[in-house]
Amino acid sequence: MYRIQKLKVEKKAIILAHNYQRPEIQDIADFVGDSLELSLYATQTDAKIIVFCGVNFMAETASILNPDKTVLIPDVNALCPMASMLPADLVRLYRRKYPKAKVVLYINSLAEAKAHCDAVCTSANAAEVVSRVDSELILFGPDANLARYAQVKSNKEIIPIPQYSFCPVHKLFNKSDVIRLKREHRDAMVLAHPECDPSVWEVADFVGSTSRMYREVLISKADKFIIATEKGLLHRLKKDRGDAVFIPAYDEAICVNMRLHTLEKVYLCLRDEKYKIKLPPKITSMAREPIEFMLKIRETQK
Ligand code: 13P
Ligand code: SF4
Repeated sequence: MYRIQKLKVEKKAIILAHNYQRPEIQDIADFVGDSLELSLYATQTDAKIIVFCGVNFMAETASILNPDKTVLIPDVNALCPMASMLPADLVRLYRRKYPKAKVVLYINSLAEAKAHCDAVCTSANAAEVVSRVDSELILFGPDANLARYAQVKSNKEIIPIPQYSFCPVHKLFNKSDVIRLKREHRDAMVLAHPECDPSVWEVADFVGSTSRMYREVLISKADKFIIATEKGLLHRLKKDRGDAVFIPAYDEAICVNMRLHTLEKVYLCLRDEKYKIKLPPKITSMAREPIEFMLKIRETQK
């Protein structure tokens, strides 16, 4: 821990960590947040090096927004399987099939795919982004559940691309488990991520991104919560609501890719300045515009 802190100061580096990171990684990070907050933070830092503890699309987004900074990821194998369900060629194919539609991609997508979309969104702002895009017909991918969520909240016609892509971790949650837990804990509040199946949102009291769930818990009067998202978020919740009880809606909901980063790997990453995120300059410049579209919406909402 001390060696990491020392290197961080020497190299003018910061450590960003997603809400699903291992507890010890969250504890040494300069900032912990959801995908939207991490992207915003990456645009505001004057650090020379950003060590990104998250899956690679998150580190790529930080690199696209900071082409002059060094963005490092402690383990290059930290990939999001859902992002890989929508290759760039498929985005181009759908564009040809629906020439009048605009394409909104979830930030959980490959940089090459983002280069061919009109706007990027996260789970915290999917409906706002879809509403601001200048078309009534939207192609949305790669999470079919978030596409459905954006449709319900925005009233636009949304076609999921591809039709059935999903997050394998959020697929583990189901309505009957949540109903059973609600019966066992009648006073508990249920919070779910929009990547869960719509039948899970139906039985939830709150649906939102990881940080929105976190904030909801902080302001809630309840002292028992059933959480339907990756278990890593529970560390932050327990830390800041020590008085409350947290029940995972599914005990094995762990994103193995997010957990690949360890303290040892963070140390080596800082010491050897590896692994650098390197994207082709053309992809960087094409993907920046749709990401900035999303960040500008945030600015006008302040
Ligand atoms: P958030 O942006 O809500 O943190 O979600 C990221 C993610 O990968 C969810 O599976
Ligand atoms: Fe991807 Fe799901 Fe892991 Fe999030 S939890 S990074 S969507 S696999």
